[in-house]
Amino acid sequence: MRTQVTIIGSGPAGLLLGQLLTRAGIDNIILDRVSKDYILGRVRAGVLEWGSVGLLDEAGAGARMHAEGLPHDGYSLAFDGRDHRIDLFALTGKRVMVYGQTEVTRDLMDAREASGAQTIYEAGHVQPHDFDGENPYVTYEKDGVTHRIDCDFIAGCDGFHGVSRKSVPEGAIQNFEKIYPFGWLGVLAEIPPVSHELIYANHPRGFALCSMRSETRSRYYVQCTLDDKVENWSDERFFDELRRRLPAHHAEAMVVGPSFEKSIAPLRSFVAEPMRFGRMFLVGDAAHIVPPTGAKGLNLAASDVHYLFEGLRDYYGDHSSAGIDTYSARALKRVWKSVRFSWSMTTLMHRFPDTGDFGQKIQEAELDYLTHSVAASTAMAENYVGLPL
Ligand code: FAD
Ligand code: DHB
Repeated sequence: MRTQVTIIGSGPAGLLLGQLLTRAGIDNIILDRVSKDYILGRVRAGVLEWGSVGLLDEAGAGARMHAEGLPHDGYSLAFDGRDHRIDLFALTGKRVMVYGQTEVTRDLMDAREASGAQTIYEAGHVQPHDFDGENPYVTYEKDGVTHRIDCDFIAGCDGFHGVSRKSVPEGAIQNFEKIYPFGWLGVLAEIPPVSHELIYANHPRGFALCSMRSETRSRYYVQCTLDDKVENWSDERFFDELRRRLPAHHAEAMVVGPSFEKSIAPLRSFVAEPMRFGRMFLVGDAAHIVPPTGAKGLNLAASDVHYLFEGLRDYYGDHSSAGIDTYSARALKRVWKSVRFSWSMTTLMHRFPDTGDFGQKIQEAELDYLTHSVAASTAMAENYVGLPL
């Protein structure tokens, strides 16, 4: 088999890149090691920057998002029994879109199917080869048979645990990493959200986040320990803990109900440099991870795709390598700013086991400063809505 770009990974990064390439007349094949249903069963991100909204429109996959997504003009920081609203729209002129990653993925899959472009799910032992030369190729197994796809370029969109980054020789890549000493326990429930905007709560018992997927479906998180297990958390215990971490007026207003998804995610900051190795590019979580606090992971995957798509479009359309040659540097500049913001919001909002009451007081001082300084609130809002592409 031959194609122009082989994309490893059918998450949001791979699907968005595939869709933009297909619409620009650039041939591509997507490979994923799991099934379509498995991918659609994962519950992850919920907040899209407006730049990501624009990219989904450009990919021809934005219609349902505009019909069903919830544009949000602000969110609340809750601490010390009170709320401070970060008025995104007043401070930056921009808003965000609350629309689940599962729905983004479904819309991109539907658009791909309509375009007739090929996706191979449940591809085993996917392996990129010879990307340091002129003739890269990817092998995979399907139904006991080994297949080979020859191509011009490989896009490694296969997430943090994927094979693309692992295939790079050790001496050619530099990794930067920070692991946080806690995780997030998340639940999804068919209950109306406690507030019409997101609430990020700092509390001596730990962080909590009240998010949503729609006006009837809530997504809630509480900070938990690293060794915690979902089985330890009945719905009753979860909602009791969540309410304890919120100001009284929210706790009293909260509607509770049975959850239908419950999972624990560890928190990590990670960046691999560079993001290009000859004819292979790393894109999205394959190259970097941020803790979820600033809602940046999916949005960073989208901005990587934007830079890589521009580079590939110019390569095929104008015979110019300038865009692919600068891909890594352009993407990393934005990546590090989001890594910094996600780290700072995580540091501000969570209970750290080793900083004690002193750490809590410092956080409350910074939160109080945010409530009284338009400059500080603006800086937070500017990062949250997304820095320019
Ligand atoms: P992935 O979504 O991980 O997709 C990678 C794909 O590659 C997968 O389908 C996988 O099956 C496939 N794959 C892996 N290995 C192989 C292999 N060897 N061969 C073939 N295929 C392979 N981000 C935000 O922007 N906003 C948020 O609000 C937000 N909230 C989050 C909340 C939680 C609880 C979590 C866990 C994450 C959150 N994120 C958020 C982060 C966001 O979900 C990720 O950054 C995003 O999924 C990255 O997309 P991706 O396509 O790069 O990688
Ligand atoms: C969601 C996740 C986040 O990490 C975040 O900052 C906001 C919302 C969510 O899953 O809805």
